[in-house]
Amino acid sequence: MDKKTFYITTPIYYPSDKLHIGHCYCTVATDAIARYKRLRGYDVMFLTGTDEHGQKIEERAKAAGVTPQQFVDNIVTGEHGVLDLWKLMNISNDRFIRTTDDYHMESVQKIFRKMYEKGDIYKGAYKGKYCTPCESFWTESQLVDGKCPDCGREVHDAEEEAYFFRLSKYAKPVQELLESGDFLEPASRVNEMVNNFIKPGLEDLCVSRTSFKWGIPVDFDPGHVVYVWVDALFNYCTALGFLNDKYHDYDKYWPADVHIVGKEIVRFHSIIWPAMLMSMELPLPKKVYGHGWLVIDGGKMSKSKGNVVDPYLLAEKFGVDALRFFLLRSFPFGSDGNFSNELLISTINTDLANDLGNLVSRTTAMAEKYFGGTLPEARESDLIDNELIAMIRETADRYAEQMDKFQLHLGLEEVFKLIQRANKYIDETAPWVLARDEAKKPRLATVLYNLLEALRVSLTMLTPFMPESCEKAFAQIGADAAARSWDKAGEYGVLPANISVRKGETLFPRIDMAKALEELEAMHKPACPQVKIEPVLPDVTIDDFAKCDMRVCKVLACENVKKSEKLLKFTLDDGSGTERQILSGIAKFYKPEELVGKTVVAILNLPPRKMMGQMSNGMLLSAVREVDGKEELKLLMLDDSVPAGSRLC
Ligand code: MSP
Repeated sequence: MDKKTFYITTPIYYPSDKLHIGHCYCTVATDAIARYKRLRGYDVMFLTGTDEHGQKIEERAKAAGVTPQQFVDNIVTGEHGVLDLWKLMNISNDRFIRTTDDYHMESVQKIFRKMYEKGDIYKGAYKGKYCTPCESFWTESQLVDGKCPDCGREVHDAEEEAYFFRLSKYAKPVQELLESGDFLEPASRVNEMVNNFIKPGLEDLCVSRTSFKWGIPVDFDPGHVVYVWVDALFNYCTALGFLNDKYHDYDKYWPADVHIVGKEIVRFHSIIWPAMLMSMELPLPKKVYGHGWLVIDGGKMSKSKGNVVDPYLLAEKFGVDALRFFLLRSFPFGSDGNFSNELLISTINTDLANDLGNLVSRTTAMAEKYFGGTLPEARESDLIDNELIAMIRETADRYAEQMDKFQLHLGLEEVFKLIQRANKYIDETAPWVLARDEAKKPRLATVLYNLLEALRVSLTMLTPFMPESCEKAFAQIGADAAARSWDKAGEYGVLPANISVRKGETLFPRIDMAKALEELEAMHKPACPQVKIEPVLPDVTIDDFAKCDMRVCKVLACENVKKSEKLLKFTLDDGSGTERQILSGIAKFYKPEELVGKTVVAILNLPPRKMMGQMSNGMLLSAVREVDGKEELKLLMLDDSVPAGSRLC
């Protein structure tokens, strides 16, 4: 019989910046679920990828002086890029899609055309508030304090000819989908979607843009590019070969069993995505699971806040498996989790070094010390064994119940109850006391065997979370492939009676908290500030340059312009014998009194301009750059010995 399939996806990532530990959270969780399903015998398709179009990428590329394709290639395939990161984190995706892949672009064009021909996409004019970093349009009522409700940043008015998707037409079936059954989980997210987005009235969605180029062209109206979310969401189908010849897995895997997504993109996945699939008359995914964020001091990690945590650094210091484990053990998957280095280190010390690590090392060390690594077959049971044996038999079911609901932390909780019980069993049975009496050797062998069995089933259940460490631990306890399988995870007595074990390397060394925190602190200090590099502008001729009349001026007086936060008013001696007034928007950077008497440079032959009711006859020159996302400005000042009126050439 064919294996049952399981299709699971992560969101596809924006390669606008290097990914951080928050991005790893989502992918590691999805990876653990995919590995768990493989362990359970499913034929799994695990898809991840990158979402490479949109205005933000176009702008980033321009600022970096490269083409958008070069820009995304660097972040996706370059050193420490997305592909490197997933390799480092041991992500077992079966497929990786880039939305700049030809096959995907072709499919999206066909999809867009289909919805257009059906009448679900129509041409109109868009007026609204647009958040560039989030690539999202918002209505006035959705803004929070006039800012983007997702990221809190400024939005701007946008108006352009655009195509629209009839989202309003699907409001009712989408609401029914959300309210019946368990399409969207955790259930708390259902009310949020229905009350905040559907009940206030679903407006049609703007699905094309003309103000930038970096996107998939609408093939029947090439001035338009497809809205990045339409492009991105359909990756889940195109990556299987929907409307393209690159792959042929659509019939096998679609509809997806679950889309794992972060909470801020639940709206796109649980409202817009099903509506578009309904329009395309395609089956709907079985589930969307919206997980929480990894936050720092209660706030989202973001590059602009400067609080992103580098996964490379943590993986190098603590090991990939420890990091994977920490992410999934420490926080309920549906809620936000507060990341801290202290929590990371204490989780590793408590669960991995103490509980699991000690159980492995004590058990294997005792088997070596007392029996040269091979247990004798003669055994002697005791009533005290029954509780542990019952747990060995029952934990897998309890673990599976949680894992099937994507309650990964609770699945791990079940495993650790067993591990802790086994450690307690060592204290209760005191093998070192039994070892002193030759007659008690059969009893000692039984105790060690029970411990090995507890370890065996625990490792099977931990494998999706820490594949490499479990592999090493399995080798230490001498478990072969059959003994590692899920089928045996609920059984007792699977390891051979005369099992051979060998103590190996310490899997999870204890970490000195104070020392590690100090080292991390030093490593996190930014090596150098991030200076935005402006590309060099196109050439001008020397004659063009000579047309700019730039002169040295002395500041005779300087004051703030009333009612303006930005402007300073300068009275200047430009060497002509007549005073010159120039306004400059640098009040944020200087106090007027600091500038009186300074020798500055101005362009004199710009057309006069009126600002805040005052005339400005020229412009002062400044040196500007953007450092760590903030503008820095220094007024150009010369040595006071340079006379007013001197020309710059
Ligand atoms: N490109 C879209 C997804 C399109 S899917 C059709 C996108 N990309 S993203 O790179 O911004 O985010 C990808 C995923 O990473 C999202 O699910 C997001 O929630 C997750 N995370 C980003 N930062 C995060 C945390 N700090 N914590 C947990 N997950 C976070 O959205």
